[in-house]
Amino acid sequence: MSDAGSGVDPQQVAVVGSGPSGFYAAEALLKSGRTINVDLIERLPAPFGLVRYGVAPDHPKLKEAILVYQVIARLPRFALLGNVTVGRDVSVEELLAHYHAVVLTCGAETDRRLGVPGEDLAGSHTATEFVAWYNGHPEYRDRQFDLSAEVVVIVGQGNVAADVCRILAKSVDELRSTDIAEHALDALAASRVREIHVIGRRGPAQAKFTNKELKELGELANCAAEVDPGALALNAQSRAELEAKANFVSAKNVEILREFASGARGGKPRRLILHFLKSPVQLAGAGRLQQVVLERNRLEGASFQQVARGTGQTENLACGLLFRSIGYGGVPIPGVPFDPKRGVIPTRDGRVVDAADVPIPGLYAAGWIKRGPTGIIGTNRADSVATVKSLLADLPSARESRMGSSGLAPLLEARGVRPVRYDDWEAINAEEVARGAPKGKPREKFTRVDEMLKCLERIGQPLS
Ligand SMILES: Cc1cc2nc3c(=O)[nH]c(=O)nc-3n(C[C@H](O)[C@H](O)[C@H](O)COP(=O)(O)OP(=O)(O)OC[C@H]3O[C@@H](n4cnc5c(N)ncnc54)[C@H](O)[C@@H]3O)c2cc1C
Ligand SMILES: NC(=O)c1ccc[n+]([C@@H]2O[C@H](COP(=O)([O-])OP(=O)(O)OC[C@H]3O[C@@H](n4cnc5c(N)ncnc54)[C@H](OP(=O)(O)O)[C@@H]3O)[C@@H](O)[C@H]2O)c1
Repeated sequence: MSDAGSGVDPQQVAVVGSGPSGFYAAEALLKSGRTINVDLIERLPAPFGLVRYGVAPDHPKLKEAILVYQVIARLPRFALLGNVTVGRDVSVEELLAHYHAVVLTCGAETDRRLGVPGEDLAGSHTATEFVAWYNGHPEYRDRQFDLSAEVVVIVGQGNVAADVCRILAKSVDELRSTDIAEHALDALAASRVREIHVIGRRGPAQAKFTNKELKELGELANCAAEVDPGALALNAQSRAELEAKANFVSAKNVEILREFASGARGGKPRRLILHFLKSPVQLAGAGRLQQVVLERNRLEGASFQQVARGTGQTENLACGLLFRSIGYGGVPIPGVPFDPKRGVIPTRDGRVVDAADVPIPGLYAAGWIKRGPTGIIGTNRADSVATVKSLLADLPSARESRMGSSGLAPLLEARGVRPVRYDDWEAINAEEVARGAPKGKPREKFTRVDEMLKCLERIGQPLS
Protein backbone atom coordinates (compact mmCIF):
# COMPACT_ATOMS: atom_id res chain seq x y z
CA MET A 1 0.00 0.00 0.00
CA SER A 2 1.64 3.17 -1.15
CA ASP A 3 1.33 6.44 0.70
CA ALA A 4 -0.95 8.61 -1.44
CA GLY A 5 1.15 10.96 -3.51
CA SER A 6 4.43 10.23 -1.78
CA GLY A 7 5.22 6.94 -3.48
CA VAL A 8 6.52 5.71 -0.15
CA ASP A 9 5.20 2.56 1.48
CA PRO A 10 4.55 3.29 5.12
CA GLN A 11 6.38 1.14 7.59
CA GLN A 12 4.08 -0.87 9.81
CA VAL A 13 4.72 -1.16 13.55
CA ALA A 14 2.56 -2.95 16.12
CA VAL A 15 2.84 -1.88 19.75
CA VAL A 16 1.40 -4.42 22.21
CA GLY A 17 -0.10 -2.86 25.37
CA SER A 18 -1.72 0.57 25.73
CA GLY A 19 -0.24 1.65 29.06
CA PRO A 20 2.17 4.59 29.36
CA SER A 21 5.07 2.78 27.66
CA GLY A 22 2.83 1.78 24.71
CA PHE A 23 1.59 5.33 24.18
CA TYR A 24 5.09 6.80 24.55
CA ALA A 25 6.47 4.26 22.04
CA ALA A 26 3.66 5.17 19.63
CA GLU A 27 4.42 8.87 20.05
CA ALA A 28 8.15 8.38 19.41
CA LEU A 29 7.40 6.39 16.24
CA LEU A 30 4.78 8.81 14.92
CA LYS A 31 6.98 11.85 15.56
CA SER A 32 10.14 10.24 14.18
CA GLY A 33 9.88 11.91 10.78
CA ARG A 34 9.52 8.48 9.10
CA THR A 35 6.24 7.39 7.50
CA ILE A 36 5.05 4.80 10.00
CA ASN A 37 1.60 3.38 10.74
CA VAL A 38 1.30 2.46 14.41
CA ASP A 39 -1.28 -0.06 15.61
CA LEU A 40 -1.58 -0.10 19.41
CA ILE A 41 -2.92 -3.53 20.33
CA GLU A 42 -4.59 -3.83 23.76
CA ARG A 43 -6.30 -6.82 25.29
CA LEU A 44 -8.98 -4.79 27.08
CA PRO A 45 -11.54 -2.58 25.30
CA ALA A 46 -10.30 0.29 27.52
CA PRO A 47 -6.80 1.72 26.98
CA PHE A 48 -4.24 3.33 29.37
CA GLY A 49 -3.07 0.29 31.39
CA LEU A 50 -2.22 1.03 35.01
CA VAL A 51 -3.13 4.71 34.63
CA ARG A 52 -6.75 3.52 34.49
CA TYR A 53 -6.46 0.27 36.49
CA GLY A 54 -3.58 0.94 38.93
CA VAL A 55 -3.25 4.62 39.88
CA ALA A 56 -5.33 5.19 43.01
CA PRO A 57 -8.79 6.74 42.51
CA ASP A 58 -8.09 9.37 45.19
CA HIS A 59 -5.11 10.63 43.12
CA PRO A 60 -6.99 12.02 40.09
CA LYS A 61 -4.20 14.47 39.17
CA LEU A 62 -1.93 11.53 38.34
CA LYS A 63 -4.50 10.24 35.87
CA GLU A 64 -4.08 13.44 33.86
CA ALA A 65 -1.37 11.60 31.89
CA ILE A 66 -4.38 10.35 29.91
CA LEU A 67 -4.80 13.86 28.42
CA VAL A 68 -1.41 13.41 26.74
CA TYR A 69 -2.37 9.93 25.47
CA GLN A 70 -5.58 11.35 23.99
CA VAL A 71 -3.48 13.72 21.90
CA ILE A 72 -1.16 10.90 20.77
CA ALA A 73 -4.21 8.82 19.79
CA ARG A 74 -5.29 11.61 17.43
CA LEU A 75 -1.97 11.76 15.56
CA PRO A 76 -2.26 10.70 11.90
CA ARG A 77 -1.36 7.00 11.36
CA PHE A 78 -2.28 5.95 14.91
CA ALA A 79 -4.85 3.18 15.40
CA LEU A 80 -6.07 1.39 18.52
CA LEU A 81 -6.95 -2.29 18.27
CA GLY A 82 -8.49 -2.90 21.69
CA ASN A 83 -10.11 -6.14 22.84
CA VAL A 84 -7.30 -8.13 21.17
CA THR A 85 -5.03 -10.32 23.30
CA VAL A 86 -1.64 -11.04 21.81
CA GLY A 87 -0.65 -14.64 22.50
CA ARG A 88 -4.30 -15.74 22.39
CA ASP A 89 -6.16 -13.96 19.55
CA VAL A 90 -3.05 -13.42 17.48
CA SER A 91 0.48 -14.72 17.97
CA VAL A 92 3.66 -12.67 18.03
CA GLU A 93 4.83 -14.72 15.05
CA GLU A 94 1.74 -13.61 13.10
CA LEU A 95 2.36 -9.99 14.10
CA LEU A 96 5.94 -10.24 12.86
CA ALA A 97 4.60 -11.50 9.53
CA HIS A 98 2.30 -8.47 9.13
CA TYR A 99 4.44 -5.69 10.63
CA HIS A 100 8.01 -4.53 10.10
CA ALA A 101 8.48 -4.38 13.85
CA VAL A 102 6.63 -5.29 17.05
CA VAL A 103 7.17 -3.47 20.37
CA LEU A 104 6.01 -5.34 23.47
CA THR A 105 4.84 -2.95 26.18
CA CYS A 106 2.56 -5.32 28.06
CA GLY A 107 3.53 -4.32 31.60
CA ALA A 108 3.95 -6.53 34.67
CA GLU A 109 0.55 -7.93 35.47
CA THR A 110 1.18 -10.53 38.12
CA ASP A 111 2.51 -10.48 41.67
CA ARG A 112 5.67 -11.70 43.35
CA ARG A 113 5.32 -14.44 45.97
CA LEU A 114 6.48 -14.37 49.58
CA GLY A 115 7.22 -18.09 49.54
CA VAL A 116 6.01 -18.74 53.12
CA PRO A 117 3.62 -21.40 54.45
CA GLY A 118 -0.02 -20.31 54.48
CA GLU A 119 0.45 -17.73 51.71
CA ASP A 120 -2.65 -19.02 49.90
CA LEU A 121 -4.98 -19.17 52.92
CA ALA A 122 -8.36 -17.50 52.48
CA GLY A 123 -7.94 -13.90 53.62
CA SER A 124 -4.42 -13.60 52.13
CA HIS A 125 -4.38 -11.62 48.89
CA THR A 126 -2.05 -9.65 46.68
CA ALA A 127 -2.20 -5.88 46.47
CA THR A 128 -2.36 -6.46 42.70
CA GLU A 129 -5.81 -8.07 43.06
CA PHE A 130 -7.15 -5.48 45.50
CA VAL A 131 -5.93 -2.52 43.42
CA ALA A 132 -7.39 -3.98 40.21
CA TRP A 133 -10.68 -4.72 42.04
CA TYR A 134 -11.21 -1.21 43.43
CA ASN A 135 -10.22 0.26 40.07
CA GLY A 136 -12.84 -1.84 38.24
CA HIS A 137 -10.54 -4.08 36.16
CA PRO A 138 -12.88 -6.57 34.44
CA GLU A 139 -10.75 -9.59 35.36
CA TYR A 140 -10.82 -8.76 39.08
CA ARG A 141 -14.36 -7.44 39.38
CA ASP A 142 -15.71 -10.51 41.14
CA ARG A 143 -12.95 -10.85 43.75
CA GLN A 144 -14.11 -10.81 47.36
CA PHE A 145 -12.20 -9.29 50.27
CA ASP A 146 -13.39 -9.88 53.82
CA LEU A 147 -13.59 -6.31 55.05
CA SER A 148 -15.34 -7.50 58.23
CA ALA A 149 -11.81 -8.10 59.55
CA GLU A 150 -10.81 -5.44 62.06
CA VAL A 151 -7.06 -5.97 61.69
CA VAL A 152 -5.39 -5.89 58.27
CA VAL A 153 -1.72 -6.50 57.49
CA ILE A 154 0.04 -5.10 54.43
CA VAL A 155 3.45 -6.58 53.62
CA GLY A 156 5.82 -4.23 51.78
CA GLN A 157 6.60 -0.55 52.09
CA GLY A 158 6.38 0.92 48.60
CA ASN A 159 3.90 3.33 47.05
CA VAL A 160 1.46 0.55 46.14
CA ALA A 161 1.28 -0.37 49.84
CA ALA A 162 0.61 3.33 50.56
CA ASP A 163 -2.26 3.33 48.01
CA VAL A 164 -3.81 0.23 49.62
CA CYS A 165 -3.46 1.85 53.08
CA ARG A 166 -5.31 4.97 51.99
CA ILE A 167 -8.17 3.07 50.38
CA LEU A 168 -8.61 1.00 53.56
CA ALA A 169 -8.13 3.97 55.90
CA LYS A 170 -10.33 6.58 54.20
CA SER A 171 -14.04 6.88 54.85
CA VAL A 172 -16.46 6.14 52.05
CA ASP A 173 -17.37 9.83 51.99
CA GLU A 174 -13.76 10.64 51.13
CA LEU A 175 -13.84 8.17 48.23
CA ARG A 176 -17.38 8.76 46.97
CA SER A 177 -16.48 11.46 44.45
CA THR A 178 -13.54 9.56 42.93
CA ASP A 179 -13.66 7.11 40.01
CA ILE A 180 -13.48 4.12 42.39
CA ALA A 181 -15.62 1.23 41.11
CA GLU A 182 -19.13 1.14 42.54
CA HIS A 183 -18.80 -2.46 43.79
CA ALA A 184 -15.69 -1.47 45.77
CA LEU A 185 -17.36 1.57 47.27
CA ASP A 186 -20.31 -0.59 48.39
CA ALA A 187 -17.99 -3.16 49.98
CA LEU A 188 -15.86 -0.47 51.66
CA ALA A 189 -19.03 1.12 53.10
CA ALA A 190 -19.47 -2.02 55.22
CA SER A 191 -15.76 -2.19 56.21
CA ARG A 192 -14.97 -2.86 59.86
CA VAL A 193 -11.24 -2.30 59.42
CA ARG A 194 -9.77 -0.52 62.44
CA GLU A 195 -6.04 -1.34 62.43
CA ILE A 196 -3.73 -1.45 59.43
CA HIS A 197 -0.23 -2.84 60.03
CA VAL A 198 2.36 -2.12 57.35
CA ILE A 199 5.32 -4.47 57.54
CA GLY A 200 8.80 -3.64 56.19
CA ARG A 201 11.49 -6.30 56.08
CA ARG A 202 14.22 -3.66 56.27
CA GLY A 203 14.53 -0.45 58.27
CA PRO A 204 12.97 3.02 58.07
CA ALA A 205 15.91 4.25 55.97
CA GLN A 206 15.17 1.61 53.31
CA ALA A 207 11.38 2.10 52.98
CA LYS A 208 10.50 2.65 49.29
CA PHE A 209 7.72 5.24 49.77
CA THR A 210 8.19 8.58 48.09
CA ASN A 211 7.92 11.55 50.48
CA LYS A 212 4.57 12.83 49.30
CA GLU A 213 2.93 9.42 49.58
CA LEU A 214 4.37 8.75 53.06
CA LYS A 215 3.45 12.22 54.34
CA GLU A 216 -0.11 11.73 53.11
CA LEU A 217 -0.45 8.70 55.39
CA GLY A 218 0.02 11.05 58.33
CA GLU A 219 -2.66 13.44 57.10
CA LEU A 220 -5.65 11.10 56.90
CA ALA A 221 -8.83 12.46 58.43
CA ASN A 222 -9.94 9.20 60.08
CA CYS A 223 -6.71 7.34 60.66
CA ALA A 224 -3.66 8.06 62.81
CA ALA A 225 -0.22 6.97 61.54
CA GLU A 226 1.92 5.47 64.29
CA VAL A 227 5.49 4.26 64.63
CA ASP A 228 7.20 2.88 67.70
CA PRO A 229 10.00 5.44 68.36
CA GLY A 230 12.32 2.51 69.21
CA ALA A 231 11.85 1.18 65.66
CA LEU A 232 13.50 4.33 64.28
CA ALA A 233 16.93 3.60 65.79
CA LEU A 234 19.37 3.32 62.88
CA ASN A 235 22.59 1.34 62.53
CA ALA A 236 25.77 3.07 61.35
CA GLN A 237 25.32 1.89 57.74
CA SER A 238 21.79 3.32 57.57
CA ARG A 239 22.97 6.61 59.05
CA ALA A 240 25.65 6.76 56.37
CA GLU A 241 22.98 6.05 53.71
CA LEU A 242 20.93 9.00 54.91
CA GLU A 243 23.94 11.32 54.80
CA ALA A 244 24.47 10.64 51.07
CA LYS A 245 23.15 13.68 49.17
CA ALA A 246 21.47 11.63 46.45
CA ASN A 247 19.47 9.75 49.07
CA PHE A 248 17.41 12.77 50.15
CA VAL A 249 14.10 10.92 49.68
CA SER A 250 15.00 8.34 52.35
CA ALA A 251 16.35 11.05 54.68
CA LYS A 252 13.06 12.93 54.37
CA ASN A 253 11.10 9.68 54.88
CA VAL A 254 12.86 9.11 58.19
CA GLU A 255 12.07 12.69 59.21
CA ILE A 256 8.39 12.10 58.40
CA LEU A 257 8.42 8.81 60.33
CA ARG A 258 9.88 10.66 63.36
CA GLU A 259 6.90 13.01 63.18
CA PHE A 260 4.56 9.99 63.13
CA ALA A 261 6.36 8.57 66.17
CA SER A 262 5.95 11.77 68.15
CA GLY A 263 2.37 12.54 67.08
CA ALA A 264 -0.77 11.96 69.15
CA ARG A 265 -3.59 9.78 67.83
CA GLY A 266 -6.11 12.60 68.14
CA GLY A 267 -9.17 10.40 68.65
CA LYS A 268 -9.14 9.08 65.05
CA PRO A 269 -11.13 5.84 64.70
CA ARG A 270 -8.56 3.99 62.58
CA ARG A 271 -4.87 3.29 63.22
CA LEU A 272 -2.08 2.71 60.74
CA ILE A 273 1.00 1.19 62.35
CA LEU A 274 4.31 1.00 60.49
CA HIS A 275 6.65 -1.86 61.50
CA PHE A 276 10.27 -2.21 60.48
CA LEU A 277 12.78 -5.08 60.40
CA LYS A 278 10.10 -7.76 60.37
CA SER A 279 9.26 -10.48 57.82
CA PRO A 280 6.23 -12.75 57.67
CA VAL A 281 7.47 -16.34 58.01
CA GLN A 282 4.06 -18.02 58.28
CA LEU A 283 0.42 -17.20 57.69
CA ALA A 284 -1.73 -19.34 59.95
CA GLY A 285 -5.39 -20.11 60.67
CA ALA A 286 -7.98 -22.85 60.62
CA GLY A 287 -9.25 -22.73 57.05
CA ARG A 288 -8.67 -18.99 56.79
CA LEU A 289 -6.15 -16.43 57.94
CA GLN A 290 -6.16 -15.75 61.67
CA GLN A 291 -2.61 -14.63 62.36
CA VAL A 292 0.71 -13.85 60.77
CA VAL A 293 3.96 -14.95 62.37
CA LEU A 294 6.58 -12.21 62.01
CA GLU A 295 10.30 -12.81 62.42
CA ARG A 296 12.46 -9.94 63.62
CA ASN A 297 15.28 -9.09 61.24
CA ARG A 298 18.62 -7.35 61.48
CA LEU A 299 20.37 -5.64 58.61
CA GLU A 300 23.57 -7.06 57.19
CA GLY A 301 25.94 -5.65 54.60
CA ALA A 302 27.49 -2.37 53.58
CA SER A 303 25.53 0.87 53.16
CA PHE A 304 23.09 0.67 50.23
CA GLN A 305 23.59 -3.09 50.09
CA GLN A 306 21.98 -3.99 53.39
CA VAL A 307 19.79 -7.06 53.38
CA ALA A 308 17.35 -8.33 56.01
CA ARG A 309 18.45 -11.43 57.92
CA GLY A 310 16.11 -13.27 60.31
CA THR A 311 17.11 -13.36 63.97
CA GLY A 312 14.96 -16.39 64.86
CA GLN A 313 12.90 -14.19 67.23
CA THR A 314 9.22 -14.24 66.28
CA GLU A 315 5.97 -12.56 67.29
CA ASN A 316 2.36 -13.31 66.34
CA LEU A 317 0.02 -10.68 64.97
CA ALA A 318 -3.68 -11.61 64.89
CA CYS A 319 -5.33 -10.44 61.66
CA GLY A 320 -8.16 -11.44 59.34
CA LEU A 321 -6.94 -9.95 56.08
CA LEU A 322 -3.48 -9.62 54.56
CA PHE A 323 -2.20 -8.00 51.37
CA ARG A 324 1.19 -8.83 49.90
CA SER A 325 2.45 -5.63 48.27
CA ILE A 326 5.96 -6.75 47.41
CA GLY A 327 6.13 -5.86 43.75
CA TYR A 328 4.69 -6.92 40.41
CA GLY A 329 6.03 -9.39 37.82
CA GLY A 330 5.68 -9.83 34.07
CA VAL A 331 3.66 -12.58 32.40
CA PRO A 332 5.32 -14.53 29.55
CA ILE A 333 3.88 -14.19 26.04
CA PRO A 334 3.91 -17.44 24.04
CA GLY A 335 6.81 -17.54 21.61
CA VAL A 336 8.72 -14.69 23.29
CA PRO A 337 11.83 -15.21 25.46
CA PHE A 338 11.20 -14.62 29.17
CA ASP A 339 13.42 -14.30 32.21
CA PRO A 340 11.33 -15.94 34.98
CA LYS A 341 13.70 -14.82 37.73
CA ARG A 342 13.33 -11.11 36.95
CA GLY A 343 9.83 -11.45 35.47
CA VAL A 344 10.85 -9.53 32.34
CA ILE A 345 11.44 -10.06 28.62
CA PRO A 346 15.23 -10.07 28.15
CA THR A 347 16.45 -7.18 26.02
CA ARG A 348 19.58 -5.38 24.91
CA ASP A 349 19.04 -1.70 24.04
CA GLY A 350 15.33 -2.48 23.76
CA ARG A 351 15.89 -5.37 21.32
CA VAL A 352 14.42 -8.67 22.55
CA VAL A 353 17.23 -11.24 22.77
CA ASP A 354 17.14 -15.04 22.77
CA ALA A 355 18.90 -17.38 25.22
CA ALA A 356 22.19 -16.81 23.36
CA ASP A 357 21.76 -13.02 23.78
CA VAL A 358 21.13 -12.63 20.03
CA PRO A 359 18.46 -10.04 19.03
CA ILE A 360 15.29 -11.46 17.47
CA PRO A 361 14.75 -9.48 14.23
CA GLY A 362 11.86 -7.02 14.48
CA LEU A 363 11.04 -7.66 18.16
CA TYR A 364 11.42 -4.96 20.83
CA ALA A 365 10.20 -4.24 24.37
CA ALA A 366 9.74 -1.18 26.60
CA GLY A 367 8.28 -0.24 29.99
CA TRP A 368 7.72 -2.54 32.95
CA ILE A 369 7.98 -5.75 30.86
CA LYS A 370 11.49 -4.63 29.84
CA ARG A 371 12.79 -2.94 33.03
CA GLY A 372 10.80 -4.67 35.75
CA PRO A 373 8.06 -3.13 37.90
CA THR A 374 9.64 0.12 39.03
CA GLY A 375 9.28 3.71 38.06
CA ILE A 376 6.50 6.24 37.79
CA ILE A 377 4.43 6.99 34.69
CA GLY A 378 6.97 9.49 33.32
CA THR A 379 9.90 7.04 33.69
CA ASN A 380 8.42 5.04 30.84
CA ARG A 381 8.74 7.87 28.33
CA ALA A 382 12.56 7.89 28.16
CA ASP A 383 12.51 4.09 28.18
CA SER A 384 10.15 3.88 25.20
CA VAL A 385 12.09 6.58 23.33
CA ALA A 386 15.31 4.57 23.83
CA THR A 387 13.69 1.39 22.49
CA VAL A 388 12.25 3.22 19.48
CA LYS A 389 15.71 4.62 18.75
CA SER A 390 17.03 1.05 18.36
CA LEU A 391 13.99 0.09 16.29
CA LEU A 392 14.46 3.00 13.89
CA ALA A 393 18.15 2.25 13.54
CA ASP A 394 17.27 -1.33 12.52
CA LEU A 395 14.43 -0.52 10.09
CA PRO A 396 15.93 -0.69 6.63
CA SER A 397 14.81 2.14 4.37
CA ALA A 398 14.43 -0.15 1.32
CA ARG A 399 12.21 -2.95 2.52
CA GLU A 400 9.47 -5.30 1.49
CA SER A 401 6.02 -3.93 2.25
CA ARG A 402 3.92 -5.36 5.06
CA MET A 403 0.15 -5.21 5.36
CA GLY A 404 -0.17 -4.13 8.96
CA SER A 405 -3.75 -3.97 10.24
CA SER A 406 -5.26 -4.70 6.83
CA GLY A 407 -3.50 -8.07 6.93
CA LEU A 408 -4.49 -8.64 10.54
CA ALA A 409 -8.19 -7.79 10.08
CA PRO A 410 -9.30 -10.96 8.21
CA LEU A 411 -7.31 -13.09 10.60
CA LEU A 412 -9.06 -11.55 13.64
CA GLU A 413 -12.44 -11.73 11.93
CA ALA A 414 -11.99 -15.43 11.24
CA ARG A 415 -11.32 -15.91 14.94
CA GLY A 416 -14.41 -13.96 16.00
CA VAL A 417 -12.34 -11.13 17.51
CA ARG A 418 -13.78 -7.64 17.02
CA PRO A 419 -11.25 -4.91 17.72
CA VAL A 420 -12.28 -1.78 19.63
CA ARG A 421 -11.06 1.30 17.74
CA TYR A 422 -10.17 4.60 19.40
CA ASP A 423 -13.53 6.14 18.33
CA ASP A 424 -15.29 3.18 19.96
CA TRP A 425 -13.32 3.78 23.15
CA GLU A 426 -14.26 7.47 23.08
CA ALA A 427 -17.92 6.46 22.94
CA ILE A 428 -17.47 4.11 25.91
CA ASN A 429 -15.59 6.88 27.71
CA ALA A 430 -18.44 9.35 27.14
CA GLU A 431 -20.92 6.82 28.56
CA GLU A 432 -18.77 6.26 31.64
CA VAL A 433 -18.50 10.00 32.23
CA ALA A 434 -22.30 10.38 31.82
CA ARG A 435 -22.91 7.51 34.29
CA GLY A 436 -20.66 9.18 36.86
CA ALA A 437 -22.07 12.72 36.58
CA PRO A 438 -25.26 12.26 38.68
CA LYS A 439 -23.14 10.77 41.48
CA GLY A 440 -20.57 13.56 41.37
CA LYS A 441 -17.94 11.09 40.11
CA PRO A 442 -15.58 11.79 37.18
CA ARG A 443 -16.84 8.51 35.69
CA GLU A 444 -18.58 5.29 36.62
CA LYS A 445 -16.45 2.64 34.93
CA PHE A 446 -17.89 -0.32 33.11
CA THR A 447 -16.35 -3.24 34.96
CA ARG A 448 -17.19 -6.00 32.49
CA VAL A 449 -15.95 -6.36 28.92
CA ASP A 450 -19.48 -7.35 27.84
CA GLU A 451 -20.92 -4.13 29.29
CA MET A 452 -18.44 -2.09 27.26
CA LEU A 453 -19.28 -3.92 24.04
CA LYS A 454 -23.04 -3.75 24.73
CA CYS A 455 -22.68 -0.03 25.37
CA LEU A 456 -21.38 0.34 21.80
CA GLU A 457 -24.36 -1.59 20.44
CA ARG A 458 -26.80 0.48 22.51
CA ILE A 459 -25.48 3.76 21.20
CA GLY A 460 -25.56 2.50 17.63
CA GLN A 461 -21.84 2.02 17.26
CA PRO A 462 -21.58 -1.80 17.17
CA LEU A 463 -18.18 -3.25 16.40
CA SER A 464 -17.86 -4.36 12.80
C1 LIG B 1 -1.04 0.14 41.90
C2 LIG B 1 -0.15 1.08 41.13
C3 LIG B 1 -0.33 2.45 41.28
C4 LIG B 1 0.52 3.32 40.59
N1 LIG B 1 0.36 4.65 40.78
C5 LIG B 1 1.16 5.50 40.15
C6 LIG B 1 1.00 6.90 40.34
O1 LIG B 1 0.13 7.33 41.10
N2 LIG B 1 1.84 7.73 39.67
C7 LIG B 1 2.81 7.26 38.83
O2 LIG B 1 3.54 8.07 38.23
N3 LIG B 1 3.00 5.94 38.63
C8 LIG B 1 2.19 5.06 39.27
N4 LIG B 1 2.37 3.73 39.09
C9 LIG B 1 3.40 3.26 38.14
C10 LIG B 1 2.89 3.30 36.67
O3 LIG B 1 1.55 2.88 36.65
C11 LIG B 1 3.78 2.42 35.77
O4 LIG B 1 5.07 3.02 35.73
C12 LIG B 1 3.27 2.30 34.34
O5 LIG B 1 1.88 2.05 34.26
C13 LIG B 1 3.99 1.16 33.58
O6 LIG B 1 3.60 1.29 32.25
P1 LIG B 1 3.59 0.08 31.21
O7 LIG B 1 3.02 0.65 29.96
O8 LIG B 1 4.92 -0.56 31.13
O9 LIG B 1 2.58 -1.02 31.81
P2 LIG B 1 1.01 -0.98 32.07
O10 LIG B 1 0.55 0.34 32.51
O11 LIG B 1 0.74 -2.14 32.96
O12 LIG B 1 0.34 -1.28 30.64
C14 LIG B 1 0.41 -2.56 30.04
C15 LIG B 1 -0.79 -2.75 29.11
O13 LIG B 1 -0.58 -3.93 28.32
C16 LIG B 1 -1.81 -4.63 28.20
N5 LIG B 1 -1.50 -6.04 27.91
C17 LIG B 1 -0.89 -6.93 28.74
N6 LIG B 1 -0.75 -8.11 28.11
C18 LIG B 1 -1.27 -7.97 26.86
C19 LIG B 1 -1.42 -8.87 25.76
N7 LIG B 1 -0.98 -10.13 25.82
N8 LIG B 1 -2.01 -8.40 24.63
C20 LIG B 1 -2.45 -7.12 24.56
N9 LIG B 1 -2.33 -6.22 25.60
C21 LIG B 1 -1.74 -6.65 26.73
C22 LIG B 1 -2.47 -4.42 29.56
O14 LIG B 1 -3.88 -4.67 29.52
C23 LIG B 1 -2.12 -2.96 29.84
O15 LIG B 1 -3.10 -2.09 29.30
C24 LIG B 1 1.54 2.82 39.74
C25 LIG B 1 1.70 1.44 39.60
C26 LIG B 1 0.86 0.57 40.28
C27 LIG B 1 1.05 -0.90 40.13
N1 LIG C 1 1.98 7.71 43.70
C1 LIG C 1 2.93 7.18 42.96
O1 LIG C 1 3.74 7.86 42.38
C2 LIG C 1 3.00 5.67 42.84
C3 LIG C 1 1.98 4.88 43.35
C4 LIG C 1 2.09 3.50 43.25
C5 LIG C 1 3.22 2.94 42.64
N2 LIG C 1 4.17 3.75 42.14
C6 LIG C 1 5.42 3.19 41.59
O2 LIG C 1 5.23 1.88 41.09
C7 LIG C 1 6.41 1.10 41.35
C8 LIG C 1 6.01 -0.19 42.05
O3 LIG C 1 5.61 0.06 43.41
P1 LIG C 1 5.57 -1.11 44.50
O4 LIG C 1 5.13 -0.51 45.76
O5 LIG C 1 4.84 -2.27 43.92
O6 LIG C 1 7.08 -1.61 44.55
P2 LIG C 1 8.38 -1.12 45.38
O7 LIG C 1 8.46 0.34 45.47
O8 LIG C 1 9.51 -1.85 44.76
O9 LIG C 1 8.13 -1.67 46.88
C9 LIG C 1 8.09 -3.04 47.15
C10 LIG C 1 8.21 -3.27 48.66
O10 LIG C 1 8.10 -4.68 48.88
C11 LIG C 1 9.19 -5.11 49.69
N3 LIG C 1 9.49 -6.52 49.41
C12 LIG C 1 9.90 -7.06 48.24
N4 LIG C 1 10.06 -8.40 48.39
C13 LIG C 1 9.72 -8.69 49.67
C14 LIG C 1 9.68 -9.88 50.43
N5 LIG C 1 9.98 -11.06 49.88
N6 LIG C 1 9.31 -9.81 51.72
C15 LIG C 1 8.97 -8.63 52.30
N7 LIG C 1 9.00 -7.45 51.63
C16 LIG C 1 9.37 -7.49 50.33
C17 LIG C 1 10.32 -4.18 49.32
O11 LIG C 1 11.32 -4.21 50.32
P3 LIG C 1 12.91 -4.15 49.95
O12 LIG C 1 13.21 -2.70 49.72
O13 LIG C 1 13.58 -4.72 51.13
O14 LIG C 1 13.08 -4.97 48.70
C18 LIG C 1 9.55 -2.85 49.26
O15 LIG C 1 9.32 -2.35 50.55
C19 LIG C 1 7.34 1.96 42.17
O16 LIG C 1 8.33 2.52 41.35
C20 LIG C 1 6.42 3.01 42.73
O17 LIG C 1 7.06 4.23 43.06
C21 LIG C 1 4.10 5.10 42.24
